[in-house]
Amino acid sequence: MLQPTADLPAFRALADHYAQAKEWRMRDLFARDPRRFDTFSIEAAGLLLDYSKNRIDGTTMGLLAQLLREAGVEQRRDAMFAGERINNTEQRAVLHTALRAPRGGGPVVDGQDVGAEVHAVLERVCDFAARVRSGNWVGRTGMPVTDVVNIGIGGSDLGPEMVCKALRTHAAPHLNMHFVANVDGHDLDAALTRLDPDRTLFVIASKTFTTRETMMNAQSARAWFLRHGTEADLPRHFVAVSTNADAVRAFGIDLQNMFPFWDWVGGRYSVWSAIGLPVALAVGPEGFRDFLAGAHAMDTHFRTAPLERNMPAILAALGIWYRNFFGCASVSIAPYHQDLGQFAAYLQQLEMESNGKRVRADGSPVGIATCPVVWGDVGTNGQHAYFQLLHQGTDMVPVDFIAALRPLHDLPGHHEALLANCFAQAEAFMLGKDAGEVREEMRAQMLPEDRIDALLPHRTFPGNRPSNMILMNVLGPSSLGALIALYEHKVFVQGVVWGINSFDQWGVELGKVLAKTLEAELTGTPSPEAHDASTNALIARAKAALKR
Ligand code: F6P
Repeated sequence: MLQPTADLPAFRALADHYAQAKEWRMRDLFARDPRRFDTFSIEAAGLLLDYSKNRIDGTTMGLLAQLLREAGVEQRRDAMFAGERINNTEQRAVLHTALRAPRGGGPVVDGQDVGAEVHAVLERVCDFAARVRSGNWVGRTGMPVTDVVNIGIGGSDLGPEMVCKALRTHAAPHLNMHFVANVDGHDLDAALTRLDPDRTLFVIASKTFTTRETMMNAQSARAWFLRHGTEADLPRHFVAVSTNADAVRAFGIDLQNMFPFWDWVGGRYSVWSAIGLPVALAVGPEGFRDFLAGAHAMDTHFRTAPLERNMPAILAALGIWYRNFFGCASVSIAPYHQDLGQFAAYLQQLEMESNGKRVRADGSPVGIATCPVVWGDVGTNGQHAYFQLLHQGTDMVPVDFIAALRPLHDLPGHHEALLANCFAQAEAFMLGKDAGEVREEMRAQMLPEDRIDALLPHRTFPGNRPSNMILMNVLGPSSLGALIALYEHKVFVQGVVWGINSFDQWGVELGKVLAKTLEAELTGTPSPEAHDASTNALIARAKAALKR
């Protein structure tokens, strides 16, 4: 049995250290040390992480690095890169890093030359993307593709969708990308009403090719297409990305138009595989390769840098500090970049599906808190919505700010305003505004003293609220690749410290099974004895409404 995290010497030392650290004010830490930014910032793979606005000192970071070491982060990291079966409940290796390694860089696992297979599929993906983009690949009437519809859900949707949106300014203007995930027919319907079947290419993306939502959407898209074309035309309009060749063939897709990947690629880590086909279609083969290269640069840093100077390890360690010692139940992601509008949703799956677990890899209880709730939206929009809570609410919510120093537009003044807001929010969270400062300010405004007393608690900011700042030069394929890889490795490190298997997702199964039964009852005969009174009443309501 693994040693419980809470029993590790560094964890105990951190608990003692926390008793003092919780009293520190970041204002004072900055006042005492003008070099704090230099000490607590790091650059890697084109990203800068400024973590100086955290409730830490050198001892904190030293103890956290010791915790990571005692938990075996370095050994697990090496085991992952080497292709060991670290996903123990599914008996699988975890090799998304091999998907972005340069030729010759992948491991050999069970006699399988992973790198060679990866590059063979990458060539096919890039070749296909180039043909579609150039108009060389035509539909049944000889017209080039204008619209691509990716049908997939979870990791087979969130990654490609987030990346295509983030890289929209780098994308081919003549290809419109659509993403349909939800089994709710409104999703597919909204996409289809705008499409010309003769110019549309469907990418059916599903690792298992059994996911109910994706299969239902794929069948409906197929039926829609067949109202215009014939079965013989399907290969020109439907391609698949999957590990399940039999199911792809059974669906009617030509295996020549299937782009495979492997069971050692987890769904939420699959955007680097053929699941990234929409990305290659949008930004082109070169852009897709740059995206992979950016992630590889972060992999190299993660693999080689000592834990004390390792960006993903630092980000992970800070998260553990706030989750396990300060008791922070959520973290907020604030990308100050409109094109990263889907980034928080992407991270929700990456972090919460990976580490939202309460038992360790050996089945024993974790015994301490694991993954916090991850949420967020783009700045500056969030400032005018939920930032009130972040500044003055009862909970401390650590924030990750993400920004690009240069914009991808030429509208004057906007980017300065954007960055000013981003930096100002981080400063405000750290500094706060104490009662003395607020009183002075109101006196300068000539407010009467009784009014000042009444307003004082409302206008005071506790401050001392932590944040990270992640900066890149410009948002592009390479910097985005590095950013995603940074968070992947952060999640990995946290999973190792908590002792959990970050690569399975048994928690999604129960709902899927129950939905299957309920769907049969909604379309057929209900079995009231199988359910509770609430569920029976809901079924009755739905059946009555659907009959009308
Ligand atoms: O239900 C969760 C999940 O299995 C995710 O882990 C995965 O990304 C998603 O469903 C989609 O799975 P698939 O690619 O097999 O359709």
